[in-house]
Amino acid sequence: MFSNKNINQLAQSETPFYYYDLALLQETLSNCAEAANVYNFHVHYAMKANFNSGVLKKIKETGFGADCVSGGEVSRAIELGFDKGKIVFAGVGKSDKEIIAALDLDIFCFNVESIQELDVINELARGKGKKTKVAIRINPNVDAHTHHNITTGLDENKFGINSWDLPECIDTLKKCENLEFIGIHFHIGSQITNLDVYKNLCIRVNEFATWFEEKGFIVKILNVGGGLGIDYHNPDHQIPDFKSYFKIFDEFLEKRPSQEVHFELGRALVGQCSSLISKVLYVKNGKKKNFIILDAGMTELMRPALYQAYHKIQNLSKLDAPVSLKYDVVGPICESTDCFGKEVELPETLRGDLIALRSTGAYGEVMASHYNLRNEIRSVYSE
Ligand code: LLP
Repeated sequence: MFSNKNINQLAQSETPFYYYDLALLQETLSNCAEAANVYNFHVHYAMKANFNSGVLKKIKETGFGADCVSGGEVSRAIELGFDKGKIVFAGVGKSDKEIIAALDLDIFCFNVESIQELDVINELARGKGKKTKVAIRINPNVDAHTHHNITTGLDENKFGINSWDLPECIDTLKKCENLEFIGIHFHIGSQITNLDVYKNLCIRVNEFATWFEEKGFIVKILNVGGGLGIDYHNPDHQIPDFKSYFKIFDEFLEKRPSQEVHFELGRALVGQCSSLISKVLYVKNGKKKNFIILDAGMTELMRPALYQAYHKIQNLSKLDAPVSLKYDVVGPICESTDCFGKEVELPETLRGDLIALRSTGAYGEVMASHYNLRNEIRSVYSE
């Protein structure tokens, strides 16, 4: 991703900033679209992963829909020209105001996460004289084998409707005249790297789809969520294996000919297309530890502090120099968890060196905060 030419260009910009490689993003999107088209699968981009406008523009141009989890995301998707017939609205806590706005915009569908929410959407739709489409998010109790904090499909998680509540759910659906049931929705977690997990998901999806059919419902859409992981240790091995991923669903889902399969991919589409670029403010060489203090911190990239997530760290100013020292690479924020990596092997590093934190395209910029009254993080694009 980095050559001396673009490093010189990056060195001209004021740090810190998110650097977006739009050509790589384009390649990733095309690769995914091509792999999905083989099976006529539908992809909705999970906007929560990154709603940077340069990124969203490319995604919209690819023709993907948008998977939104707030009123803000729904209106951003509309503003940027996403087809409203391809906008889904998910989330465990949609406010009345957000539901009303989405009803007014005639989005494609609500992914509903509780029985109470069904009643609320029905009531609000009735108030507008509308009938709106809903899919039921089911908690399938499938272990995603990923980090505890980004697992969503186990009984202990707050997401979706549990299997034992489904009989009550269909009773509610039957009496909700302003709702049209269109399918079932699942999302079991994020950064899933073991594809066998998806086989287990497919088996559960088949069971639930059959159950709904037996109860007299037509299940038109099987929405299997997202979660496909990326290789944080090899950011230059950049495009996820979409072919193998989609093939699993083709093989293991018992799809009826009239059914559509929908996906909500976030990280896999955008994760590798960006790096957080920062400068070394200070180097402190101690007896026990050497510290590199960057001008970016957990306020710009929260993942290491929040999930002990690994992001590869590179010294762009010394790209060809041999690795010779170990450093704890930290940010300027007044928190001990403001640390991007411990004992990171790097070439000898000096004040002013340019540092890249790789694979920050997903859940990077969007999770930035103003803690310590930090400035808004900027973005720089390359084509
Ligand atoms: N669909 C639903 C319902 C979701 O909750 C999510 C992510 C996705 C799709 C997209 O998942 P992806 O393909 O990006 O894995 N902040 C965490 C990740 C949180 C994921 C939340 N839900 C992180 O930085 O690792």
